[in-house]
Amino acid sequence: MKKKLIVIGIESSCDDTAVSLIKNRCVLSNVIIRQKIHKQYGGVVPEIAARLHERSLIIAVNKAISYARINKNQIDAVSFTLGPGLIGPLLVGASFAKSLSMGLKIPLLTVNHVQAHILSHFIKKANMNNTYPEFPFLCLMISGGHTLIVRVNDFFQMEILGSTLDDSVGDAFDKIARILGLSYPGGPLLDHFSINGSSKKFRFSKPSVKGLNFSFSGLKSQVLQFINKKLQKDSFFVKKNLSDLCASAQNIIAEILLEKVLKATLKTGIFRVALAGGVSANNEIRRHFILFAKKTKTGNFLPKKEYATDNGAMIAITGLLKYEKNIFDSMNVTPYSKLKTF
Ligand code: KG4
Ligand code: ZN
Repeated sequence: MKKKLIVIGIESSCDDTAVSLIKNRCVLSNVIIRQKIHKQYGGVVPEIAARLHERSLIIAVNKAISYARINKNQIDAVSFTLGPGLIGPLLVGASFAKSLSMGLKIPLLTVNHVQAHILSHFIKKANMNNTYPEFPFLCLMISGGHTLIVRVNDFFQMEILGSTLDDSVGDAFDKIARILGLSYPGGPLLDHFSINGSSKKFRFSKPSVKGLNFSFSGLKSQVLQFINKKLQKDSFFVKKNLSDLCASAQNIIAEILLEKVLKATLKTGIFRVALAGGVSANNEIRRHFILFAKKTKTGNFLPKKEYATDNGAMIAITGLLKYEKNIFDSMNVTPYSKLKTF
C-alpha cells in the first residue's frame, strides 16, 4: 500500500457543503460553505439545501484542492457521506462523489455520518504529540440528528448503548433557542448568550428515563410553559433574563448528558470517554465533561470545535481508515436517511 494516502471527503447530509483533503491522517484543507438561507425558515428546507449543495460543491472541491496545494491527480480515493441525513442533499453529494471517482479512476468510499463524527478523533495534528482514544471507548455522540451513547470496539465496530426516545439534544437546543426568540440554528446562540448568564437563576427539572436512553421533548415543553407563564405577567421577561435563561437551560442539558455518561462508564467498566457531534462544540457541555473526567480520573477526548460540527475532514478520515482496511464500495450504493446500524 502507498504510504501517504490522500483522500478527499465530501459532506452534504444537511445544510453545510463541506469538503476536506487529508494526507496521512493530517488535514491539508477543510472547506465549509454554510447555507445561511435556512435562517429565514427557522429550519433546514431539504430542497433548497439540495439545490445549494449542487451549486456549492464544485466551488468547495476546487477550494479544498487549491488550499491543500496538490494536484487533483494526486488524490487516491473519494469518500462521501452516504447517510444518515436528508435524501436530496445526500443524492447531490453521492452523484458528485461517484463522478469524481469515475473521472479520476480512483476508489469510492462510503461513509456513515454518525460514525464519522466519532472517528474525527483519529484526525492527526501535524507536528504534535497525538493521543487517540484506545479501544474500547465510549462516545457521547450529540448532534442535530442524534443523541447516542456508543461503545466503540474498533474503527468500524460500534454498538449503540443508549439513544434518545424523542428529540435529539441538538433539536432541544434549537427549539429552546426558538422559544427564547433566537434564530436558527439556535444551539450556538444559546451557547453565546449563556456566557454572561447565571445557570442557577432558573431551575428546570430533569426527565427520568431508564437505562442509558435520553428524552428531551419534556424539557422543551417545560421551558415553553415556564416562559408563557412569565410572559403573561411581564412581556419583557425573556428580554430581561435572556442570558440567565440560556445558561440555566444549557446547564440542565449538560447535567442530563453527563449523568448518563457516568452511568454508562459504571455499567460497562469502560472509563475512556469521547465527545462527538455538533453539540459537543457547546462550552458548558465541554466544561462539565472536563470536570467529570477530572473527578472520575477517566480519559477525556474532546474534538476540536472545527471537527465537532459537520465538516469534510471527518468524512475524509473515515474514508482513509476504510482504505487502510481495504474496505471499498461499488458504484451501486444509494443514500439512506435513517441510521440503521453501524
Ligand atoms: O453535528 P451537526 O453539525 O449536524 C448534525 O449532524 O446534525 O450538529 C448540528 C447541531 C445543531 O442542532 C446545532 O444547534 C448544534 O449542533 N450546535 C450547538 C453548538 N454548535 C452547534 N449546540 C449547542 N452549542 C453549540 N455551541
Ligand atoms: Zn453531523
